[in-house]
Amino acid sequence: MCGIVGYIGTKKACPILIAGLTRLEYRGYDSAGISTIEKNGLSLMKDKGRVKNLNNLEGIDNLEGTIGIAHTRWATHGKPSKENSHPHQDNSKTFSVVHNGIIENYNELRSFLESNGYTFYSQTDTEVIPNLIHYYFEKDSQDKSIMRFLKAVQKACLDLKGSFAIEVISSLYPDNMIVVRKDSPLVIGTCEDEKYISSDIPAILSYTRDFYLLNDLEFVLLSRNEARFFDSNLNEIKKETTNIEWNASSAEKEGFEDFMLKEIYEQPTAIRETIGSRISPDLKCEIEELNVLDKAYLSSINMIYIVACGTAMHAGLVGKNSIEKLCKIPVEVDIASEFRYRSPIIDEKTLCIFISQSGETADTIAALKLAKSQGAKTIAISNVIGSSITREADFSIYTHAGPEIAVASTKAYTSQVILINILAIYFAEILGVCDSNLLKSLKQEILDLPKKVEETLKCDSQVKDFSKSIYQEKDIFFLGRGIDETVAKEGSLKLKEISYIHSESYASGELKHGPIALIENGITVISILTDPNLVEKSISNIQEVITRGAKTLVVTNQNLDYSMFDEVIKIPDTIPFVSPILSIIPLQLLAYHISKEKGLDVDKPRNLAKSVTVE
Ligand code: F6R
Repeated sequence: MCGIVGYIGTKKACPILIAGLTRLEYRGYDSAGISTIEKNGLSLMKDKGRVKNLNNLEGIDNLEGTIGIAHTRWATHGKPSKENSHPHQDNSKTFSVVHNGIIENYNELRSFLESNGYTFYSQTDTEVIPNLIHYYFEKDSQDKSIMRFLKAVQKACLDLKGSFAIEVISSLYPDNMIVVRKDSPLVIGTCEDEKYISSDIPAILSYTRDFYLLNDLEFVLLSRNEARFFDSNLNEIKKETTNIEWNASSAEKEGFEDFMLKEIYEQPTAIRETIGSRISPDLKCEIEELNVLDKAYLSSINMIYIVACGTAMHAGLVGKNSIEKLCKIPVEVDIASEFRYRSPIIDEKTLCIFISQSGETADTIAALKLAKSQGAKTIAISNVIGSSITREADFSIYTHAGPEIAVASTKAYTSQVILINILAIYFAEILGVCDSNLLKSLKQEILDLPKKVEETLKCDSQVKDFSKSIYQEKDIFFLGRGIDETVAKEGSLKLKEISYIHSESYASGELKHGPIALIENGITVISILTDPNLVEKSISNIQEVITRGAKTLVVTNQNLDYSMFDEVIKIPDTIPFVSPILSIIPLQLLAYHISKEKGLDVDKPRNLAKSVTVE
């Protein structure tokens, strides 16, 4: 939520900042702004609305400064408006600040500052930060060095409760910028005489592949050719760069109309990358990052929790099925925002797996911290190298799906499903508790999946045509049994978030226990049928809705009598452990085409943001 960009170098900052914000807009898009260091002090340009509106602001073309900070907002405190847009400045306009996160004690800090004569123009929590920096800066008037600036930022940050990623510039220090983060993402890309700062790696990938990844409360003093790092007590520390393998073009649309469609089509490649060398052509399974988890440890586990949010949680539901069936260990799947408040039973015999594409989801990070504090071992599954969750967990495994830009997650989901299946196989082999022929056939199926995904994508035009017949619907139902129910949930979520059509997903057999009352003539019911053992029962449930006048779409890999359904999308056959990877694809495409048919912004649906860094 909220995107931050910064630049300190030799070129004009403004175009670089606007380009960075445009790439980061998926993080929040209700207002935007920039501040640069100009010859006559700090510039400040901001307004509500999309980043592109910045180009219309008077004077923006005259900005010459080579240092600047910028922000695209997802409103938390205060409605989208010019006043509430970032950057924010202190009363004396000496400091400009952009902030991502939430300052939980801002009311208290605001009262303190007001009692010291400061005034406020916005309803944001952020506005306390530049004023607090100014307050500490003024108290330290003896020191004339750059450390005075750094100390003021440090003291202000130590007063803040909550989460923050902050960039600060000052008219008094025209060659510097200070950045710091706590529980909110921020990376620094480095080249010889330029530094690029961003909430997310993709926004600045076209400039550099060398990144500094920050830990909480590490303060960074930047100049054009240097990044100096300090711990929370301002002791100087050393940091190495991390080379990021993603290439810049993977963060561009490359001829696709939208990132979401591009990412749907990238799934064969993303899955190949996720499999990597984890399953070899001769069917050996290895997850190097987990090789210290031996048989003795795995045999001692009596419970696994998989904790995540949204789509990542749906991948967790698939993981539960595979781990329980292959490893014979009970698994519970929890929504991260609920997990920590329900007093889960956790001890050293509990293994907790956290799934997060971004690795920055605040609820998931908080759940991870809780699990760790209660003695569980923790594994993070993430797509972003060096993300907060991976630095917090005992072990991290990466999906390697490449940057996912569209707010609605697609390739990250299928990569997570693959990876958690590989993890289940890996653990089952160590434990020796599963039929080796089953494991062998599952591994072969996984290796065959990229080709089958390519095959499945051929349903695109059929799905597009079907979308034209239902895009004006108000309610749509998704049904499935067993593993297909997890896909019904994910299909329903995809539809809601980008088409704004109300939809519900149910276990097919549950419908008659209440929700069937909602089925009336003409309503669309989408069913997923991939498990041969459950097909007959599922068909009976579909019959129940057909009898009540429903229009039916069925996604299946089974050879059935299709005549009873209105539309059937046939997908390649595979085994139920991994069938969600194929059956979700028509549903991703359906959500996409309905959204397009309605003329909506597919990549940036209303009220949402890509990375949810607030609880
Ligand atoms: C839905 C979607 C969200 C995310 C959720 C968790 O398309 O993208 O439901 O899955 O916000 O995000 P991560 O995986 O980054 O923790």
